[in-house]
Amino acid sequence: MYIINKIHILRKEIILIKKTDKKIGLVPTMGNLHDGHIKLILLAQKYSDIVIVSIFVNPMQFNCLLDLKKYPRTFKEDCEILKQYNVDIVFSPNINDIYPNDIKNQTFVEVPKLSNILEGAARPGHFKGVTTIISKLFNLIQPDFSFFGEKDYQQLLIIKILVKELNYMIQIISLPTIRLKNGLALSSRNNNLNSKEKKIAPYLYKIIKKTCENLIKEDNSIRQEIINLSKNLLIKKGFSIDIFNIYDCRTLKTPSKNSKNIILIASVWLGKTRLLDNKKIFSTI
Ligand code: PAF
Repeated sequence: MYIINKIHILRKEIILIKKTDKKIGLVPTMGNLHDGHIKLILLAQKYSDIVIVSIFVNPMQFNCLLDLKKYPRTFKEDCEILKQYNVDIVFSPNINDIYPNDIKNQTFVEVPKLSNILEGAARPGHFKGVTTIISKLFNLIQPDFSFFGEKDYQQLLIIKILVKELNYMIQIISLPTIRLKNGLALSSRNNNLNSKEKKIAPYLYKIIKKTCENLIKEDNSIRQEIINLSKNLLIKKGFSIDIFNIYDCRTLKTPSKNSKNIILIASVWLGKTRLLDNKKIFSTI
């Protein structure tokens, strides 16, 4: 496994790979790898000849300095895992290489359509940071495929729009959310839960699933009542709710009464940890 920290070395390597016509698969990460990342890597290996995993805790996508400082950095352990899974290249640049100038004055890439609603409204500037770093990685690595989890559903949609509207010749491949047996979606943030919160956290997906079942079963006219009941249940369990509602799968707008493309999106707090999850109700993207 080749660990590359410098952009000029990465560039040389990419030129060599491109000469061989081999397909490159990129799995972008911020490290602190878990089974969800591993599944993305295994999928990437099915599609590509060379798998590159990037590890970069991207300051531009954190709107809270404390969150950035607190973000777990486990580079040594991550590399051991990646070696075990025969990843070809780890690209782990340092901040000064990626953002040599002041981040505030950095040229950015933004997908205006979906970046300032839902998670984007709760975390101003977050998606601008994501799309800027992803564009940089796409420009540097020139992958044929790039792999993302469906847990961060809004991020996935935004990256698909980015690729389409900026004409990147990259296929975005998504993977359904990987869960613990108790239903909790895997996320680096789960490490921040204390033991009491770890017992409560699985109720989020249990309640999401039940809500979806009820939405399918019951008449469309009582959708909002069903959602409100579930919200009350979540609050009783100890969550505080930022987002818990249904949206159109493609536009993330309020779905029309008879829409068949609906997703339930949840973004809730459990203590100091923000948990994200979602479930499609009627369709596939
Ligand atoms: O989902 C993530 O881990 C990050 O947002 C990503 C896509 C690696 C960009 O920094």
